[in-house]
Amino acid sequence: MNELAQFFTKEVFSILLANSIKINDPKIVIDLGIGDGSLTSAAQKRWKNAQFCGVDLDKNRVESLNVTHSNVNLFNLNSLDLNLSKKINIKVGSVDIAVCNPPYLNLEKTEKYSQLLTKSGLKNSVKLISYTTDLLFIAQNLSLLKKGGILGIILPAGLISGHNFELFRKDLVSNHSIENIIELESKIFKRTEAKTFILILKKGCPKKDLVLISKANKKGEITDSFAVPKDDLVYRMDFDYHANKKTLNSSGKSLANLVESIKRGNISNLDLRRIGLPYFHTTDFKKHDGRLFTENNSYNNLDKQPLLAMQGDILIGRVGKTCHRQILIVESGCIAISDCVYRIRSSKKNQKRIIDYLQSEEGITNLKILKHGVCAQVISLKNLANLLIK
Ligand SMILES: C[S@@+](CC[C@H](N)C(=O)[O-])C[C@H]1O[C@@H](n2cnc3c(N)ncnc32)[C@H](O)[C@@H]1O
Repeated sequence: MNELAQFFTKEVFSILLANSIKINDPKIVIDLGIGDGSLTSAAQKRWKNAQFCGVDLDKNRVESLNVTHSNVNLFNLNSLDLNLSKKINIKVGSVDIAVCNPPYLNLEKTEKYSQLLTKSGLKNSVKLISYTTDLLFIAQNLSLLKKGGILGIILPAGLISGHNFELFRKDLVSNHSIENIIELESKIFKRTEAKTFILILKKGCPKKDLVLISKANKKGEITDSFAVPKDDLVYRMDFDYHANKKTLNSSGKSLANLVESIKRGNISNLDLRRIGLPYFHTTDFKKHDGRLFTENNSYNNLDKQPLLAMQGDILIGRVGKTCHRQILIVESGCIAISDCVYRIRSSKKNQKRIIDYLQSEEGITNLKILKHGVCAQVISLKNLANLLIK
C-alpha cells in the first residue's frame, strides 16, 4: 500500500454510490481525497446543477484534475486539517452531499482528532484504542455536512465489522441515520484484497428502526437486500454475517460456555522461528489430518514462556483465507503455538463435542462467516467465543 493509499474506485461502484444517495437537487457536493475524480465524475452526472469541491493531499492528482475536471473547485490540502472549512471556503454544516473513498491508514491518536470526532456526533469513538484515517475522514465529512445531508463513503471491513470499532458503530446508530450498507465483492481494487462496503449515512436524524443492508456484484449491481434492526448493527454491519445469522444462531451452547479457556498464542511466527525450537503455526495445519501427534517439547530458560498446546487442546487458525478450515486436536505431546493460532482448552467431556462440531461442514461454514478483516481475514476472539456449538 502506498503512503497515501491511492486505490481508485472503478466507475461502476462510483455510479452505485452516487445512485444510492436519495437527494435530488443538492447545492454543494464535496469529495475529500478526490484522487482521480472517479466519485466526483459519477456525482456530476447525477447532479448536474450542483457546485463541486474536491480535496487531495497529492499535488500531482490535483494538477491533473485541474485539466480533466476544470468545473470542480480543487484544493491541494490535507482533508483532516481542522481549518479545512475556512481553507476551502465552505461553511461547517452547509454541505448537502459528501462522496468519499478515504485512505485506510493508521493515525496517531491526538487531541485535535478527538475534538473532530466529538463535534461530529462520534463522541464514543474517542474511547477507541487507536484512530484511522477512514474514521477521521468520516468525522470531517460529517462536520461539513448539514443536518439531513448525506455521506456516501467506501469503507474497509475493519470499521464495518471489527470489534475494535464497536464504539464507532454505536455512535453511528445513536446519532445519525444509516440509510444503507452495501457489501461489495472482494478484490475490486487493484493491488489490494481489501473487502469494502459502501455506507450511506444521513447526518443527525437517528430515527430509523430498520436499516437496509445489501450486497453488490462485480458489475456494481445490487443482488440482494434485507432490513436489519439498527441496534443489531453495533455488533457487525456486514451483509454476509447478517444473512447467515440464522444458521449461526440456530441452537447449541456458546463455545465460551463449554470451555475452560480460549487463548491466542503469545509469540509471533517470526520470533518463534528465531528461537529455533519446534512450534506450531497456521502453515502446519495442512501437514496433519485434523489430529496432531507431537513430541514432548520443552521451552525452559526462555525470556518469555510461549503458550503451549497439550493433549486434548483444540487448535484453530486465527488469520488467513483458509483459517476456517484449520482445526485440529492435539492427540499427544506438547508444543508452543504462534500468535496466529487459538488454543481451546476444555474438559475431556466437551472436547469431542467441540472438535466434532468445528470440523463438521456446518462448523466450518459458521467459522467462515465469522471471518472479517481488511486484508488478512481474521476470526476474532469475541466472535469465536460466541459461536454456538451443537
Ligand atoms: C483510496 S484513494 C481514493 C481516491 C478517489 N476518491 C476514488 O474514489 O477513486 C484516497 C485518496 O485520498 C488521498 N489522500 C490521502 N490522504 C489524504 C489526506 N490526508 N488529505 C487529502 N487527501 C488524502 C490520496 O492521495 C488518494 O487520492
